[in-house]
Amino acid sequence: MKNVSIRIMALCLVLALIVSLVGCTKAPVQTTVKEIVIGVVAPMTGDVATFGKSTRQGVELAVKQINDKGGINGSTVVIKAEDDKNDPVEAANAALKLISKDKVIGIVGSVASKCTLAAAPIAQSNKIPLISGTSTNEKVTQVGDFIFRACFIDPFQGLVMAKFASENLKKTTAAVLFDIDNDYTKGLAEQFKLNFEKMGGKVLAYETYGKGDQDFNAQLTKIKSFGPEILFLPDYYNTVGLIAKQARAQGIKAIFLGGDGWDSEDLVKIGGDAIEGGYFSNHYSPDSTSPEAVSFRSAYEAAFKATPDALAALAYDAANILMEGIKQAKTTDGTAVRNAMAGLKNFKAVSGNVSFDSNRNPIKGAVILKVQGGKQVFEAVINP
Ligand code: PHE
Repeated sequence: MKNVSIRIMALCLVLALIVSLVGCTKAPVQTTVKEIVIGVVAPMTGDVATFGKSTRQGVELAVKQINDKGGINGSTVVIKAEDDKNDPVEAANAALKLISKDKVIGIVGSVASKCTLAAAPIAQSNKIPLISGTSTNEKVTQVGDFIFRACFIDPFQGLVMAKFASENLKKTTAAVLFDIDNDYTKGLAEQFKLNFEKMGGKVLAYETYGKGDQDFNAQLTKIKSFGPEILFLPDYYNTVGLIAKQARAQGIKAIFLGGDGWDSEDLVKIGGDAIEGGYFSNHYSPDSTSPEAVSFRSAYEAAFKATPDALAALAYDAANILMEGIKQAKTTDGTAVRNAMAGLKNFKAVSGNVSFDSNRNPIKGAVILKVQGGKQVFEAVINP
């Protein structure tokens, strides 16, 4: 009797071992789904609607090119896009809907750091890879290991503009005016100040405003009284255009500097002559001569009858990075796709070659553009 039960126990053990071994060595499930759905979260309406339009078009072009070549491992790629209206609450809801209802494999977006910071925890907790083309605030990818970006980060961008002010323009005094309610403008303001002061520059005034403010005259009066050579304006094109007009109307002569948020054809429509002569750092110039940038520009112009801006280029890059991850993973499992994305080396992107550091940030150079004759003219490249 005792012998029998020992034999049964031994048999059970062997069986358990076999089951667990099979479980361990099982390869990722090869999915032969017909369609691969990827999500896009971007501001299609609201105060920065040109950002959403460019982002959407960038992703559409990347997906069309992949589908024209037969899709990913035989599956057609389909886009589900959601408008976050540049509002963090909407961005979080959009991510939730894309994941729970549309069953996306990955998400491209959002544009503004404050929105991506709200959407990212949802992607992270559902183990769905999310890649923002454009969110430069350092905290974005710190949300977790499923969160990536295709752009450089604000500590670098702040350094680039401080260096440009100090070394290229040879200026020693500046003022900074920024939105205290926006992670992006706040982070970039801090980084510019930190680096400009390290280089021996003086920040004479460090002034703030709040979300949705339209009248900056009180802050500008104070700034004017210090007479800075530089006025750093790290906000999006719509607000920068308004500030530039009010500053010139007050007689402020400072050179305006800013960051990637200036990138919109609407900057000069809003800022007019006031923004002439301003400089901003950016990720991409349509005049870029790399083979990837040249072929992207011509395909984009053919498809949309418009010159691509940095948002379009970065959304195109972000979508391609996500799709390359899905292709290499050979499965739609979120963790496998995330691992393939993290392992990409020197991925040929329009905005420069992408390899991710340990925080899933690519290391790339910046371009500086000048607003001249109502156009964005290439001024310099600054490498890390
Ligand atoms: N970097 C901005 C942010 O993080 C977004 C942006 C990128 C806007 C590029 C314009 C161009 O909020």
